[in-house]
Amino acid sequence: MSERETWTSRVGFILAAVGSAVGLGNIWSFPFQTASNGGAAFLVVYLLAVFLIGFPAMLGEFVIGRRSEQNAVEAFRSLGFGEWSVAGGLGVVGSFVTLAFYSVVGGWVLSYIVGSVTGAYLGDPGAYFGAVSAGPIAVATHAVFMALTIGIVALGVTDGIERATKVMVPAIFVLIGGLAVWVSTLDGASDGYSYYLSPDVSVIAGDLAGIVPSAVGQAFFTLSLGFGVMIAYSSYLGRDDSLPADGSAIVVVNTLVALLAGFVVFPVLFAIEGAVPESGGAGTAFTALASAFSQIPGGQAIGLGFFVVLLLAALSSSISLLEVPTSFVVDRTGYDRTPTAVGLGVLVAIAGVPTALDTGILGWYNDVVFNLLLPLAVLVIAVFVGWVADDQLAEELDLGSSFGDDFSTVWLWWIRIVIPVAIGGTLLLGIQSLLVKAGVLSAPVILG
Ligand code: PHE
Repeated sequence: MSERETWTSRVGFILAAVGSAVGLGNIWSFPFQTASNGGAAFLVVYLLAVFLIGFPAMLGEFVIGRRSEQNAVEAFRSLGFGEWSVAGGLGVVGSFVTLAFYSVVGGWVLSYIVGSVTGAYLGDPGAYFGAVSAGPIAVATHAVFMALTIGIVALGVTDGIERATKVMVPAIFVLIGGLAVWVSTLDGASDGYSYYLSPDVSVIAGDLAGIVPSAVGQAFFTLSLGFGVMIAYSSYLGRDDSLPADGSAIVVVNTLVALLAGFVVFPVLFAIEGAVPESGGAGTAFTALASAFSQIPGGQAIGLGFFVVLLLAALSSSISLLEVPTSFVVDRTGYDRTPTAVGLGVLVAIAGVPTALDTGILGWYNDVVFNLLLPLAVLVIAVFVGWVADDQLAEELDLGSSFGDDFSTVWLWWIRIVIPVAIGGTLLLGIQSLLVKAGVLSAPVILG
């Protein structure tokens, strides 16, 4: 077996992890979720979830990965708890399923880049979405997106992932920052901002049972937690890195990009009247934005910039999703990375075909991942770190850390008590929300 790779620098690791975190979740889902769930009021719930649950949980994945220097499954075995490898197995399955539909949306983004160049969506944005999100076009663009993902992962951790994210992540920043400034000059900008962030506590109070699990699910998703991405990425890390410092940087930057995305999306939507989508179905954001781009001054260019950002963000995340099963197979069997990444990528691509053909199925994959798989996976990891693994993991957090050992003591208790309780509650609400959607329950029972 060839020697295991490591990141060439600390910045390389941070950029790769930020690349994983910043994705469709930040730019495509976050602004719409915030706007339709009470603006700043939702933001408060979301930020609490990110910093109080997501951040400590991310450190949990970091200590597992760096201590074991193994992929998400072998990590548990190599720490001496083989029976807990199912937790990593859950991550492998979670990344596989998520990538299958994530890549379909990545394919739509490709179509919208083409459409921005040719002007194809300008005439009839609704019809354009219908055409690119169904049938052979959707399958073909999904395949192209998977091919790009496979290409990067096949090149390796440093030559592929690190090199690609070193270019993509700064580009995302520059572009999204530039767009936010540009669209601030549009007519409806201030109305857009106030729609985005004006706190509407009544919305939250009216649907606590639905909003809490979405905010927590969104927090986990956006931080790429639960699926072993952060285990895999931190396993390529040196001992002298401060995990709490790197983790804070990743969480803060990820949050900034999400907030910034709203500062791009809402001025655009408010520049034309009545363009704010009511329900956030899978395609609403695309149709609403495309129709705004078709009407505002410079819309085609803004649209091109926006969809390019979306593509870079999606791609720097999808590679991390493919890295989870790839690193598992490579570490486990010693197979070469290239054929492994290609083989697994093709399987994911096939698994995504039903979601490419039917946005209803895509919505269903999405709901199951958010309400069930994600919280479950994060919960299992937290219980492992807090209650099963011995003190070696708290010690690992101190290595290279400038935060002091009081920090790791608090963290350990936090991950033992607060996180399992919080996620347990969320999970109940999430299951309830799936049952309501499926029609098994007519209304929420808890917090209903
Ligand atoms: N964090 C990515 C996003 O916000 C998605 C993702 C989830 C990537 C889980 C890896 C693992 O789009």
